Amino acid sequence: MKIFLDTAIVDEIKEAWDLGIIDGVTTNPSLILRSGRKLEDVLKEISDIVDDCISGEVISTDHEGMVREARELMKISPKIVIKVPMTKEGLKAVRILSKENIRTNVTLIFSANQALLAAKAGATYVSPFLGRLDDISQESLILIEDIKEIFDNYGFTTEIICASIRSPLHVLNCAKLGADIATVPYKTLMQMFDHPLTDVGIKRFLQDYDKSQK
Ligand code: E4P
Repeated sequence: MKIFLDTAIVDEIKEAWDLGIIDGVTTNPSLILRSGRKLEDVLKEISDIVDDCISGEVISTDHEGMVREARELMKISPKIVIKVPMTKEGLKAVRILSKENIRTNVTLIFSANQALLAAKAGATYVSPFLGRLDDISQESLILIEDIKEIFDNYGFTTEIICASIRSPLHVLNCAKLGADIATVPYKTLMQMFDHPLTDVGIKRFLQDYDKSQK
């Protein structure tokens, strides 16, 4: 399973990249706002750190505008993946971009039918949002299960990015279901390292080593 970092904070990306555990980065306009920086500057800096798969989102609502923005973003780096919203115009843009071999990530997916349509349009990735479904008391893991089953049934090569991840349990469940990727906030990624028995175990081993050497 690939892990992407869901952030536009460059220091977080550097740290996670140096740990050797991330395969890409996803951003969105809200994350860019939180970084306090310009989209192009952030994407450029991320592309100097990360090997591949850096999602940058377009903000046009018409497909011509989306395609124009996508071509501009691609000038930053070939590592960029164009994040497009799940709309009719978005899927028109996906069709055009896929013919130009520009990778796309269709975002704001909340139903398996949306994922099916995005895959048919030629999306490289689909991003179903878990946390936002959980927020409205809708079981999100069923969505991942359904998309996986549909993609497997028909041999779609579109990869599933589990997005809107809120906890290590989300990541665990997505991994068990065989999702291709989870895009994880920095805090959640750090929480995945933790286990109290590991801390206790290290402490005890160090104490015992000290005792054994006296
Ligand atoms: C990822 O591609 C999404 O932009 C992100 O995971 C959304 O997460 P949120 O629902 O916590 O804003």
